[in-house]
Amino acid sequence: MASRRTTSELPACYAMVHDGLEQITGEEIADTLGGAVKRSGSGIVVFRVADLTRDLLHLRTTEDVFLYGWGTDELSYRAKDLDTIERWTARSVDWDLLLKLHHAVTPKPRGKPTYHFVTQMIGPHGYRRVDAKDAMVRGLKGKLPASWKYADDNASVEIWLTIHGAMAICGMRLSDKTMRHRTYKHEHLPASIRPTVAAAMVRLAELKPNQTVLDPMCGAGTLLAEAFLYAKGRRASDGSFWQMQFVGGDIDASHVRAAQANLRQFHISDVRDWDARELPLDDASVDRIVSNPPFGKQLSTPEEIVPLYRESIAEMGRVLKPGGRVVLIVADMPALRAAVEHVGWKQVRQANLRMLGQRATIVVYQSVKR
Ligand SMILES: C[S@@+](CC[C@H](N)C(=O)[O-])C[C@H]1O[C@@H](n2cnc3c(N)ncnc32)[C@H](O)[C@@H]1O
Repeated sequence: MASRRTTSELPACYAMVHDGLEQITGEEIADTLGGAVKRSGSGIVVFRVADLTRDLLHLRTTEDVFLYGWGTDELSYRAKDLDTIERWTARSVDWDLLLKLHHAVTPKPRGKPTYHFVTQMIGPHGYRRVDAKDAMVRGLKGKLPASWKYADDNASVEIWLTIHGAMAICGMRLSDKTMRHRTYKHEHLPASIRPTVAAAMVRLAELKPNQTVLDPMCGAGTLLAEAFLYAKGRRASDGSFWQMQFVGGDIDASHVRAAQANLRQFHISDVRDWDARELPLDDASVDRIVSNPPFGKQLSTPEEIVPLYRESIAEMGRVLKPGGRVVLIVADMPALRAAVEHVGWKQVRQANLRMLGQRATIVVYQSVKR
């Protein structure tokens, strides 16, 4: 645990998120950490928390979390940015404090400590990524203990510089790759949704105790795994743990097997071989649906999407309880809108992002109580 300090003494943190999830991540930070978002955009959410603890590493919609060193929205795109990067890295960050806080959240590994530098750069700039990295490295001269060695892998401390257009942010990474990749995924499918995007969809589903959650096209089961982990350990107002039911299925038998392999560890056993256009489920039997139907290029012909959406949405409409919620991620919004017209759901929220190189939309619907 980090030693207690007042909020004003602590440096800010920032999270890297899938582009488009900034607002949802801001809500997660506020709900789970009591944090306050200071700024967000371009896949970055800057925030402050009262205490720096390992709870930061349990955020589910973030790819990575960092201690904030410095940031700007005003890069010039010209070579003079390199002086700015060097100067701010050298002068505006208390690297000793960041190292101390880093060790408090992430225990020191055994052996001699090591460090690693990462630079990411998106957009055309009048200098190369390696020039930006060199500028940061010059700014860090003498800031890290002299006995530490540079390491390419598994370094104890990583210092990152991320440049996205006119925005630059530099800090010390607190998370490791398990934050974005998750340890539950034994079986992977090429079309699987990123776990952090699945976690964002689950947040939007607003799960409540004792509900049944369905993914009728579950692939490797990522959405159900994230729904399980969201509900795990939560208590209802009478103090009892939430008793949830998770149900999934897929038309591809190998995907069903992948989902079964990933979900067994959570004791989710109701994963079936089925066609989402004809679900073997009772009318009004599920409270929440979270799903990632195939994108156009995942089907043999993109024209299949219209009838697939129409028939599967009609089935979702049949099995969903009145007042239930549906969270879908799709690339083809017109096809989805046309399908939803027939079931009479009300759209309550939308987030735009990119997935597998395509524009995608997360849409939240509420079924109207009859
Ligand atoms: C984008 S993938 C879902 C990925 C999943 N969310 C994951 O994390 O692995 C779409 C899935 O829909 C399934 N699918 C396509 N048509 C279906 C149908 N008629 N009934 C059930 N599943 C279907 C595909 O087999 C595929 O696994």
